[in-house]
Amino acid sequence: MAEIIYDTASLAWIFQMEASTYCMRLNEEQTSLQHIYWGARVDTTVAREMALAWKTYFMSFESTAGNSREEFAPWGEMRFNEPALKVAYADGTRGIEWRFQAHGIEQEQGSQTLWLRFADQVYPLQVTLYYRIHTGHDVLERWVRLENNGADAPIMLEQAFSADWQLPRRERYRMTYLHGRWGKETQVTETLLAPGKFVLESRRGTTSHQFNPWVAFDADASATEEQGELWSAGLAWSGSWKIVAETTPYGTLHCVGGVNDFDFRYRLDAGTRLDLPAFVGLYASGGFGALSRQWHRYQRARVLPAELESVRPILYNSWEATAFAVNERNQMELAEKAAALGIEVFVMDDGWFGERAHDRAGLGDWTVNRTKFPRGLNPLIERVNALGMRFGLWVEPEMVNPDSDLYRAHPDWVYHFHNRKRTESRNQLVLNLARPDVRDWMFSTLDTLLSEHNIEFIKWDMNRSISEPGWPAESAGNPERVWLAHVQNLYWVFDALRRKHPNVAFESCSGGGGRIDLGILSRVEQVWTSDNTDALDRLRIQEGFSYAYTPRAMMCWVTDCPNYLTGRSVPLRYRFHVAMAGSLGIGGDLSHWTPEELEQARGFIETYKRVRPIVQNGKLYRLRSPRSGQVTASQYAAQDGSEVVIFAWGHSQQFGERLIMLQLCGLEVDAHYVEGVSGRSYTGSYLMRYGLEAKLVGDFDSQMFHLVRADRL
Ligand code: GLA
Repeated sequence: MAEIIYDTASLAWIFQMEASTYCMRLNEEQTSLQHIYWGARVDTTVAREMALAWKTYFMSFESTAGNSREEFAPWGEMRFNEPALKVAYADGTRGIEWRFQAHGIEQEQGSQTLWLRFADQVYPLQVTLYYRIHTGHDVLERWVRLENNGADAPIMLEQAFSADWQLPRRERYRMTYLHGRWGKETQVTETLLAPGKFVLESRRGTTSHQFNPWVAFDADASATEEQGELWSAGLAWSGSWKIVAETTPYGTLHCVGGVNDFDFRYRLDAGTRLDLPAFVGLYASGGFGALSRQWHRYQRARVLPAELESVRPILYNSWEATAFAVNERNQMELAEKAAALGIEVFVMDDGWFGERAHDRAGLGDWTVNRTKFPRGLNPLIERVNALGMRFGLWVEPEMVNPDSDLYRAHPDWVYHFHNRKRTESRNQLVLNLARPDVRDWMFSTLDTLLSEHNIEFIKWDMNRSISEPGWPAESAGNPERVWLAHVQNLYWVFDALRRKHPNVAFESCSGGGGRIDLGILSRVEQVWTSDNTDALDRLRIQEGFSYAYTPRAMMCWVTDCPNYLTGRSVPLRYRFHVAMAGSLGIGGDLSHWTPEELEQARGFIETYKRVRPIVQNGKLYRLRSPRSGQVTASQYAAQDGSEVVIFAWGHSQQFGERLIMLQLCGLEVDAHYVEGVSGRSYTGSYLMRYGLEAKLVGDFDSQMFHLVRADRL
């Protein structure tokens, strides 16, 4: 059971989680919160001993405050490392001197939350640090509430991060993170950290394709896929963010992060408060594999919206087939074909609204294009429903094309500076969602769309970064708050829509994987992983995704060859096997698929329906990485261990590299497992020690195995 213990003797709080312990304490003066321990589970008495053994290291030529390992460092006194909070008071004083005020522990179903309140000793700034743990997890969720309890003067926040993670004292750390770009998201990357700062960030107003707000640390680069300790953290924020991993000259590593402080100023008015997003930490022993499995389990249990259904449905998406040229006839034809394959949700992508014949017009005008759909959307939706599928629709509500009725009516609704150009990207501008009128317009537009049609799935896109983030009407006030307010209002619209339309599932898309983070994942069922649907490229994108996020939320389409981005052609079977490793969708132009291809597809979809509970809700073991050789392989095991699914994908063939034995993981040694196609029975011990033989012939061959424990046959 998750438990938070307060020990008065050592002034320490001890968090006992599933297999880990976290401990921190106040200094004697109660002016600083000191990190004590984060790692494998120890007895509460041992944690208490550690807290009692804590002492400050006084160095006359050094800063004591700055070199102690604080849980949350307010800038002030002799602090020179990256702080967590920096403020300016109205009278010109900058810097904080705070003191502990109070604490409390709150219980909810399966979780406990500790709050610790600190207050500036002179000014009415109150800072509450929150720590929440959940039974069955090794996850610690941290966030902060800032309050101005004064009567008149505002407090200017200049830097307001969510948490500072202190890593155990070790020789040297490696940091693993996910970087990328459009069409090449979530690439696993690593670096050894030396004294200095390593900064990951987005200044784009959205999570970004370039870096994902997720990191993992291991000492001396010693962790492997299946072994070693890891400390990891991820931000629940879909706007500009920053994570700073700082190795101090004394060799200690801390990792502080939250809303980006670049171009950030937030005026905390008297009598108001600000809640900062969570920065979630996770400790795992058992290597990167165990770390990922824990992130996945936590996301399924505690982050993703309460399940509409136990598995994600298989969807069809029209984008690569019909692009902007959607109309009632071609969508109905595609829907017929999709239904015949066993698809469950039919999603019409871009092109259905306003004057949207291309990407130069129409964004903002969310009414159906009557040339393409003379009878409106309902006849198509009814046909889709009659075919036994749900209907889904693409929208990009934060955007506007200058060539749109919305922009002609409200040219002041976009981010801009009055005397600067409005830089277009994909011919579009970003609506100033910080404005209450834009927020309300967005909600009511989408609410109307959902109320007037039987839409059960929304793909919410966001195809450009924010530039020229001005708000002329607010320029005398605090226009920089747009960075925060855009995301707060985006979440507000999502939350309001979900409340009013609880049967609608959402997908987060941002030119592919530009908005994937723990914040958006608490509001959407799934994400569009990447606009790159090339199966070979996908192996790396999906591997990186799986480091941090659950395959259940990872939407993967089978599309046409040659691939529109890479020009590469790979067999349909290979494309299916790659897409079946996550949440399966089809994005090809079914009107051009041959009867044989359609037949093959029907078979794969049927198979996927059998294995998807294991793929989407099971335990993932990455058997072979696409970064290390000619074969990639993944194993998914049902939570109760009764079924196992394995995919093996060969890349380009080099002679002699295809005699492959895959050593499986996590099986019961003495149990028998029967493989579906061959009917052969193996013991767990055989499969884990000797291996399962995969036969891959030629370029881009692939194989899927489905093993069932004999007692379940
Ligand atoms: C983005 C998305 C695509 C598609 C197009 C439509 O690029 O990532 O999947 O929806 O927009 O314009």
